[in-house]
Amino acid sequence: MQERMSQTCDVVVLLSGTGSNLQALIDSTRTGDSPARIAAVISNRADAYGLQRARDAGIDTRCLDHKAFEGREAFDAALTEMIDAFNPKLVVLAGFMRILSAGFVRHYQGRLLNIHPSLLPKYKGLHTHQRALEAGDTEHGCSVHFVTEELDGGPLVVQAVIPVELQDSPQSLAQRVHGQEHLIYPMAVRWFAEGRLSLGEQGALLDGKLLAASGHLIRT
Ligand code: GRF
Repeated sequence: MQERMSQTCDVVVLLSGTGSNLQALIDSTRTGDSPARIAAVISNRADAYGLQRARDAGIDTRCLDHKAFEGREAFDAALTEMIDAFNPKLVVLAGFMRILSAGFVRHYQGRLLNIHPSLLPKYKGLHTHQRALEAGDTEHGCSVHFVTEELDGGPLVVQAVIPVELQDSPQSLAQRVHGQEHLIYPMAVRWFAEGRLSLGEQGALLDGKLLAASGHLIRT
Protein backbone atom coordinates (compact mmCIF):
# COMPACT_ATOMS: atom_id res chain seq x y z
CA MET A 1 0.00 0.00 0.00
CA GLN A 2 1.19 3.53 -0.76
CA GLU A 3 2.44 5.59 2.11
CA ARG A 4 -0.25 8.10 3.13
CA MET A 5 0.53 11.78 2.67
CA SER A 6 0.60 13.47 6.01
CA GLN A 7 0.63 17.07 4.84
CA THR A 8 -2.15 19.16 3.39
CA CYS A 9 -3.24 18.60 -0.20
CA ASP A 10 -3.95 21.96 -1.81
CA VAL A 11 -6.78 21.83 -4.34
CA VAL A 12 -7.82 24.34 -7.00
CA VAL A 13 -11.45 24.07 -8.14
CA LEU A 14 -12.57 25.25 -11.60
CA LEU A 15 -16.25 25.98 -12.23
CA SER A 16 -18.64 27.94 -14.41
CA GLY A 17 -21.95 27.67 -12.57
CA THR A 18 -23.81 27.31 -9.31
CA GLY A 19 -21.13 25.28 -7.57
CA SER A 20 -23.19 22.88 -5.48
CA ASN A 21 -20.36 20.37 -5.90
CA LEU A 22 -17.92 23.02 -4.71
CA GLN A 23 -20.13 23.49 -1.64
CA ALA A 24 -20.04 19.78 -0.91
CA LEU A 25 -16.25 19.87 -1.21
CA ILE A 26 -15.99 22.91 1.06
CA ASP A 27 -18.19 21.25 3.67
CA SER A 28 -16.26 17.99 3.52
CA THR A 29 -12.84 19.63 3.78
CA ARG A 30 -13.95 21.53 6.86
CA THR A 31 -14.69 18.46 8.93
CA GLY A 32 -11.35 18.73 10.67
CA ASP A 33 -9.62 15.54 9.63
CA SER A 34 -9.48 15.95 5.85
CA PRO A 35 -6.02 16.63 4.38
CA ALA A 36 -7.66 18.40 1.39
CA ARG A 37 -7.69 22.20 1.47
CA ILE A 38 -9.29 24.30 -1.22
CA ALA A 39 -6.66 26.91 -2.03
CA ALA A 40 -8.61 28.72 -4.74
CA VAL A 41 -11.70 28.67 -6.93
CA ILE A 42 -11.36 29.87 -10.51
CA SER A 43 -14.21 30.57 -12.92
CA ASN A 44 -14.40 31.63 -16.55
CA ARG A 45 -17.64 33.44 -15.69
CA ALA A 46 -17.69 36.39 -13.31
CA ASP A 47 -21.36 35.75 -12.45
CA ALA A 48 -20.90 32.11 -11.44
CA TYR A 49 -22.62 31.61 -8.08
CA GLY A 50 -19.83 29.21 -7.17
CA LEU A 51 -17.50 32.21 -6.79
CA GLN A 52 -19.84 33.66 -4.18
CA ARG A 53 -19.88 30.36 -2.31
CA ALA A 54 -16.08 30.44 -2.25
CA ARG A 55 -15.97 34.06 -1.06
CA ASP A 56 -18.48 33.23 1.68
CA ALA A 57 -16.15 30.45 2.81
CA GLY A 58 -13.13 32.78 2.79
CA ILE A 59 -11.50 31.02 -0.16
CA ASP A 60 -9.41 32.91 -2.74
CA THR A 61 -11.23 33.43 -6.04
CA ARG A 62 -10.15 34.36 -9.53
CA CYS A 63 -12.05 34.98 -12.76
CA LEU A 64 -10.56 34.47 -16.19
CA ASP A 65 -12.94 35.39 -18.99
CA HIS A 66 -12.39 33.07 -21.94
CA LYS A 67 -13.93 35.67 -24.27
CA ALA A 68 -10.90 37.90 -23.69
CA PHE A 69 -8.62 35.34 -25.39
CA GLU A 70 -8.08 34.42 -28.99
CA GLY A 71 -8.42 30.69 -29.06
CA ARG A 72 -8.43 27.80 -26.64
CA GLU A 73 -4.65 27.46 -26.35
CA ALA A 74 -4.16 31.09 -25.27
CA PHE A 75 -6.92 30.82 -22.65
CA ASP A 76 -5.65 27.51 -21.34
CA ALA A 77 -2.09 28.88 -21.07
CA ALA A 78 -3.31 31.82 -18.97
CA LEU A 79 -5.47 29.48 -16.90
CA THR A 80 -2.51 27.19 -16.26
CA GLU A 81 -0.47 30.13 -15.04
CA MET A 82 -3.28 31.21 -12.74
CA ILE A 83 -3.75 27.72 -11.32
CA ASP A 84 -0.04 27.05 -10.85
CA ALA A 85 0.40 30.24 -8.81
CA PHE A 86 -1.43 28.27 -6.08
CA ASN A 87 0.84 25.25 -6.52
CA PRO A 88 -1.99 22.72 -6.11
CA LYS A 89 -1.49 18.98 -5.86
CA LEU A 90 -4.93 18.45 -7.34
CA VAL A 91 -7.16 20.34 -9.78
CA VAL A 92 -10.88 19.61 -9.62
CA LEU A 93 -13.37 20.38 -12.38
CA ALA A 94 -16.77 21.08 -10.81
CA GLY A 95 -19.06 22.10 -13.64
CA PHE A 96 -16.34 23.87 -15.65
CA MET A 97 -18.05 24.34 -19.01
CA ARG A 98 -14.97 24.45 -21.22
CA ILE A 99 -13.36 21.87 -23.44
CA LEU A 100 -9.73 21.68 -22.36
CA SER A 101 -6.80 21.63 -24.76
CA ALA A 102 -4.55 18.58 -24.96
CA GLY A 103 -1.64 20.60 -23.56
CA PHE A 104 -3.66 21.61 -20.50
CA VAL A 105 -4.77 18.05 -19.82
CA ARG A 106 -1.21 16.71 -20.20
CA HIS A 107 0.14 19.37 -17.85
CA TYR A 108 -2.18 18.12 -15.07
CA GLN A 109 -2.04 14.44 -15.95
CA GLY A 110 -2.79 12.31 -12.89
CA ARG A 111 -3.93 15.28 -10.81
CA LEU A 112 -7.04 16.44 -12.68
CA LEU A 113 -10.47 15.08 -11.70
CA ASN A 114 -13.91 15.65 -13.21
CA ILE A 115 -17.45 14.73 -12.26
CA HIS A 116 -19.99 13.85 -14.92
CA PRO A 117 -23.76 13.31 -14.49
CA SER A 118 -24.04 9.87 -16.09
CA LEU A 119 -22.74 6.35 -15.72
CA LEU A 120 -19.80 6.75 -18.08
CA PRO A 121 -19.03 5.58 -20.71
CA LYS A 122 -22.75 6.17 -21.31
CA TYR A 123 -23.87 9.67 -22.23
CA LYS A 124 -20.72 11.71 -22.61
CA GLY A 125 -21.46 15.38 -23.20
CA LEU A 126 -24.69 17.22 -22.34
CA HIS A 127 -28.37 16.42 -21.55
CA THR A 128 -27.47 13.17 -19.83
CA HIS A 129 -30.66 12.83 -17.76
CA GLN A 130 -32.91 13.35 -20.75
CA ARG A 131 -30.89 10.83 -22.75
CA ALA A 132 -31.05 8.21 -20.01
CA LEU A 133 -34.85 8.59 -19.85
CA GLU A 134 -35.26 8.46 -23.63
CA ALA A 135 -33.20 5.27 -23.74
CA GLY A 136 -35.51 3.70 -21.14
CA ASP A 137 -32.61 3.03 -18.75
CA THR A 138 -33.55 1.52 -15.42
CA GLU A 139 -30.37 2.83 -13.80
CA HIS A 140 -28.58 6.15 -14.01
CA GLY A 141 -26.02 7.99 -11.92
CA CYS A 142 -22.78 9.92 -11.91
CA SER A 143 -19.08 9.30 -12.32
CA VAL A 144 -15.81 10.77 -11.05
CA HIS A 145 -12.88 10.20 -13.38
CA PHE A 146 -9.35 11.28 -14.09
CA VAL A 147 -9.28 13.64 -17.03
CA THR A 148 -7.48 12.55 -20.16
CA GLU A 149 -7.48 13.98 -23.66
CA GLU A 150 -10.67 12.07 -24.52
CA LEU A 151 -13.71 14.15 -23.50
CA ASP A 152 -15.44 12.49 -20.50
CA GLY A 153 -13.33 9.43 -21.28
CA GLY A 154 -10.61 9.13 -18.62
CA PRO A 155 -10.22 6.25 -16.12
CA LEU A 156 -13.14 5.99 -13.72
CA VAL A 157 -12.61 6.41 -9.99
CA VAL A 158 -16.10 6.06 -8.51
CA GLN A 159 -19.66 5.79 -9.78
CA ALA A 160 -22.93 6.16 -7.86
CA VAL A 161 -25.84 4.20 -9.33
CA ILE A 162 -29.47 5.12 -8.68
CA PRO A 163 -32.67 3.48 -9.94
CA VAL A 164 -34.74 5.36 -12.51
CA GLU A 165 -38.36 5.60 -11.36
CA LEU A 166 -41.31 5.36 -13.75
CA GLN A 167 -42.46 8.88 -12.95
CA ASP A 168 -39.00 10.46 -13.29
CA SER A 169 -38.52 13.62 -15.36
CA PRO A 170 -35.10 14.96 -16.38
CA GLN A 171 -35.43 17.41 -13.48
CA SER A 172 -36.24 14.85 -10.80
CA LEU A 173 -33.48 12.59 -12.05
CA ALA A 174 -31.00 15.47 -12.11
CA GLN A 175 -31.88 16.31 -8.53
CA ARG A 176 -31.26 12.77 -7.25
CA VAL A 177 -28.07 12.41 -9.28
CA HIS A 178 -26.83 15.73 -7.90
CA GLY A 179 -27.35 14.39 -4.39
CA GLN A 180 -25.06 11.47 -5.24
CA GLU A 181 -22.48 13.78 -6.81
CA HIS A 182 -22.22 15.56 -3.48
CA LEU A 183 -21.27 12.27 -1.85
CA ILE A 184 -18.85 10.76 -4.35
CA TYR A 185 -16.84 13.84 -5.30
CA PRO A 186 -15.72 14.64 -1.74
CA MET A 187 -14.96 10.93 -1.32
CA ALA A 188 -12.69 10.83 -4.38
CA VAL A 189 -10.97 14.10 -3.47
CA ARG A 190 -10.33 12.81 0.01
CA TRP A 191 -8.85 9.56 -1.34
CA PHE A 192 -6.52 11.59 -3.52
CA ALA A 193 -5.57 13.95 -0.70
CA GLU A 194 -4.80 10.99 1.55
CA GLY A 195 -2.47 9.59 -1.10
CA ARG A 196 -4.73 6.56 -1.66
CA LEU A 197 -5.83 7.41 -5.20
CA SER A 198 -3.56 7.76 -8.20
CA LEU A 199 -3.50 7.31 -11.95
CA GLY A 200 -1.48 4.33 -13.14
CA GLU A 201 -0.63 3.23 -16.66
CA GLN A 202 -3.60 0.82 -16.77
CA GLY A 203 -6.14 3.01 -15.00
CA ALA A 204 -7.08 4.44 -11.62
CA LEU A 205 -5.43 2.88 -8.56
CA LEU A 206 -6.93 2.86 -5.08
CA ASP A 207 -4.58 1.77 -2.30
CA GLY A 208 -2.20 0.56 -5.00
CA LYS A 209 -4.81 -1.75 -6.60
CA LEU A 210 -6.22 -1.22 -10.06
CA LEU A 211 -9.90 -0.27 -9.86
CA ALA A 212 -12.46 -2.02 -12.08
CA ALA A 213 -13.25 -0.28 -15.37
CA SER A 214 -16.39 1.19 -13.74
CA GLY A 215 -14.39 2.52 -10.80
CA HIS A 216 -15.58 1.92 -7.24
CA LEU A 217 -19.36 1.31 -7.43
CA ILE A 218 -21.87 2.70 -4.98
CA ARG A 219 -25.51 1.61 -5.27
CA THR A 220 -28.43 3.20 -3.51
C1 GRF B 1 -22.85 18.69 -12.29
O1 GRF B 1 -24.00 18.05 -12.75
C2 GRF B 1 -21.62 17.96 -12.75
O2 GRF B 1 -21.82 16.60 -12.87
C3 GRF B 1 -21.35 18.57 -14.10
O3 GRF B 1 -21.69 19.94 -13.92
C4 GRF B 1 -22.66 20.06 -12.91
C5 GRF B 1 -22.19 21.08 -11.92
O4 GRF B 1 -23.15 21.35 -10.95
N1 GRF B 1 -19.99 18.37 -14.50
P1 GRF B 1 -22.85 22.33 -9.74
O5 GRF B 1 -22.44 23.68 -10.36
O6 GRF B 1 -21.74 21.74 -8.94
O7 GRF B 1 -24.12 22.43 -8.99
